[in-house]
Amino acid sequence: MRDGWVADFDALAPTYDQRTAQDDWRLNDRAAEMLAPLGLAPARILDLGAGTGQTAEALLRLFPDAEVTLVDPAPGMLRAARAKLPGATFVEEDAAAFLAASAGRWDLVSAIGCLELVPDLFEVLRLAAARLAPGGHLVASHEPLLGTGVQARPVSILDRGRAVSRHAVEEVERRAASYGLRRVASRVETAFQRGDGDGAAVYELVVWSAGGV
Ligand SMILES: C[S@@+](CC[C@H](N)C(=O)[O-])C[C@H]1O[C@@H](n2cnc3c(N)ncnc32)[C@H](O)[C@@H]1O
Repeated sequence: MRDGWVADFDALAPTYDQRTAQDDWRLNDRAAEMLAPLGLAPARILDLGAGTGQTAEALLRLFPDAEVTLVDPAPGMLRAARAKLPGATFVEEDAAAFLAASAGRWDLVSAIGCLELVPDLFEVLRLAAARLAPGGHLVASHEPLLGTGVQARPVSILDRGRAVSRHAVEEVERRAASYGLRRVASRVETAFQRGDGDGAAVYELVVWSAGGV
């Protein structure tokens, strides 16, 4: 699948790490901070919207013995990730398509910085919940609807076929609960400063556990 975001991130790939460092992109560190106190020991991690591997690197610092599978539809991003994580598995695929076709089970699924870009955030959450091992966890970020500014709009249609979708925190939680996910930690973070004077991009980070565990 090649949509606008795939072409966009493919072009960005060679400079993505440099740009995110300049933008102070710290969601992966924040996600690791939320996971650390939970005392998890995941053997198998699935990283959706893996990009250049920043999320996987942060998770592997916390869980060095885990096997990691990185999924991303942008080949350039995965190329950069491969160079950093030679022992990992890489799949060039849309998150929902990968999950729908997979029979795998993961102890930890991550989706950091990508759910506002996918065609249907809820479909990814639903499919990811179904692929968690018993006692497994899902850590994800999304761009919540806020009362003012750009984030008061459910969708921002950008150029070159790109769109950013937003959902109310309460709606995300209601839907996640309906997929059997139980919220164990959450925090709201400034992810980066948008260009064009549109202010801070505010994300919610959430850790859910599978079922009642
Ligand atoms: C902002 S980057 C985040 C990458 C990484 N998780 C990080 O924190 O650095 C968003 C990533 O989502 C990927 N992406 C875009 N559409 C996607 C989709 N439908 N399914 C999975 N990943 C997608 C992009 O290719 C890009 O690598």
